[in-house]
Amino acid sequence: MEAPWWKSAVFYEIYMPSFCDGNGDGIGDFAGMASKLDELAELGVNGIWLTPFYPSPKVDNGYDIADYTAIDPVYGTMEDFEAFLREAHARDIRVIADLVLNHTSSEHPWFRESRSSRSNPKRDWYIWKDPVNGGPPNNWESFFGGPAWEFDEATRQYYYHAFAKEQVDLNWTNPEVRAAMKGVMDFWLDRGIDGFRLDVINFLKVSGTFPDNPYDAETGEQQHVHDKDQEGILDAIAELSAHAHARKGTFMVGEVGSEDMDVLRRYSGTGLLDVVFNFNLGSQETFSLERLYGELKKMEAAHAPGQLPTLFFSSHDMPRHISRFGEGDPVLEERRAKLISALTLTAKGVPFLYYGEEIGMRDFVAETIEEMRDVQGLTAYRLALAEGLDPEEALEKALAKSRDKSRTPMQWTDETYGGFSDAAPWIGMGPRHDVLNVRTQRRDPDSIYQFYRQLIALRHRHPSLHGGDYGRLERQGEVLLYVKRAAGEEALVALNFGTEPFALPVGRLLSGPFRFVLSSRRETDGAHEPFLLGPQEAAIWISENSSVKETCHT
Ligand code: GLC
Repeated sequence: MEAPWWKSAVFYEIYMPSFCDGNGDGIGDFAGMASKLDELAELGVNGIWLTPFYPSPKVDNGYDIADYTAIDPVYGTMEDFEAFLREAHARDIRVIADLVLNHTSSEHPWFRESRSSRSNPKRDWYIWKDPVNGGPPNNWESFFGGPAWEFDEATRQYYYHAFAKEQVDLNWTNPEVRAAMKGVMDFWLDRGIDGFRLDVINFLKVSGTFPDNPYDAETGEQQHVHDKDQEGILDAIAELSAHAHARKGTFMVGEVGSEDMDVLRRYSGTGLLDVVFNFNLGSQETFSLERLYGELKKMEAAHAPGQLPTLFFSSHDMPRHISRFGEGDPVLEERRAKLISALTLTAKGVPFLYYGEEIGMRDFVAETIEEMRDVQGLTAYRLALAEGLDPEEALEKALAKSRDKSRTPMQWTDETYGGFSDAAPWIGMGPRHDVLNVRTQRRDPDSIYQFYRQLIALRHRHPSLHGGDYGRLERQGEVLLYVKRAAGEEALVALNFGTEPFALPVGRLLSGPFRFVLSSRRETDGAHEPFLLGPQEAAIWISENSSVKETCHT
C-alpha cells in the first residue's frame, strides 16, 4: 500500500501578505507567489500552506472571512489562484488552504442577516444570548483580551466571539452551518486544492450551559475550560473529515490550541484529522534541550503506530525561533537555527517550515504604535491605556503580544524592500535584509539557506529520514541523538547543542556499514571513529544494506 503523500512532504507556510508582491501595491499576492515557485522547488519544499486568501476586512489579516468561496482582490483573481495552483502542481508541489471554520467576519452576509432580527433564519447560525443582570451572559474572555461577548444594540442580545469582536463564532450545533462548511470544502477541492489547515479547530464547540470559566490561582489568568475541547467536538471533526477524505489524498492538519498531549492526540487518527500542530515542541521562549527532548519523548509515546506528530518551531503566531533561541548572539543564533533545522527535517513527524526561516530571518520590533499591525498587539495597547498605563508602558505590553515580529516581507535580495516589492510594504522590514536574503545566501556555501536545501534533498532521498521509526531516541547532556529505521536503512542524527565536543561511537550506534552524509560544519569529513561532534554541530550518517527489519508504518 502506498503511503499518503503528506507523510513524506516538507511543508512551507506562506503568510499571504508577506511573500512576494506581483503588482506593486506593497502586499503579497498570487502572481508574486507564482513567480517564486521555481525557487521553492529548488529549496525542495513540496507542500505549501497558504494563510487565508478569501475576501476579508482583514481585522486579523484574513482570519476574519467575509466570503468563503472567492479570492480577496488584493491577492488577485480566481484565475490567478488557479494559475498558481497549476504551476505548483506542475512542480510536484501540493497546496493546502487555511480554513477558518470557527468564526466568520462580522461583515459576512451570514452574520449581517443573523444580526438583522431575532427571527431571521440565520439567527441561530451564531451564538446569541440574553444579558444576565444587565451584563454579559458569563465571564468568558476573548483570546485577544477583553470580554468574549459583544452587545448588539439592534436586537439587544450578546453575540459570542472567541477572538476579536469582528470574528464572530459560528454555532456548530446547527446542521445548516455544518452543511454550509462542507460546501465550502467542496468548492476548493473541486478547484484542485490538496487539503486544509483547520484554524482553531478545537474551538468549534462551546459548553451548551455556558458556565463561568475558572481562574488560575497563581497567575490569575482565565482557564478556558468551557469554551474549547467540548463534548461532541470530535463528532463534528469526524463529519468534516469523512467529507473531505472521501476525495482520495485530501490532507487535513488541525490547529488544536492545547498544551495537553492527551487532549491533542484525540484529534488525529483514522476518521479524524491526519495530524495536529503540537505547540509544546517549538513554542518555548528560550531554548532548553531538556524540555525539547521531554516533548519529543511525549510525542513518541502519544502517537499510535502509523500516526505522526508535526514538527515546527515558527509560525505567523509566534516570534521566529532564531530570535527566541539565539540569546541575541548572531553566531549562536545561526548555529542553533541549523541544529533546529536538522531536527525539524529528520526527526519523526511532518515538518512545517515558516517562510524566511531558511534564510534566518529575525524578528521585527515596532518602535511606535503606528508601526504595529497585529490586532492582538493593538488590543493589548488599547486595554493597557484603558487600565491607566502611559503610552510607553502600553507599547511595551503591546509589543509582548504583537505577532508582527514574524510577519515581515520575505527577503529575496538586498534591495530597499528586499526584492519583495518596489513599493513600501504593508508592514516594516525585518532586520539585516542586506545579508539575510535568498540571493546572497544562495551564493554562500555556509549559509543557513544552503544547509536547509541540503537537508531537504537528503530527506527526500532517504526513507529513514522522511519516514521510519526511532530505533533509539536519547539525550546525553546537551547532545540529542536518534537513530531512525525504514526500508532496510538506518539514519543516525547527532545534534550537539552544547559548547563541548562530544565523542560519538558511530559504528556502535548503527548496525551496518555506514557513511557520513551531512554536517552543519562544512569542514567536517565524518570519517574518524569515534567521531568528534563539534560544539553546536549537527551531523548525519546513513547505513544502507543494514540488517534492520522494515519497521516503517504506512
Ligand atoms: C489561529 C490563527 C491566528 C488567528 C486565530 C483566530 O490561531 O493562526 O493567526 O488570529 O486563529 O482566527
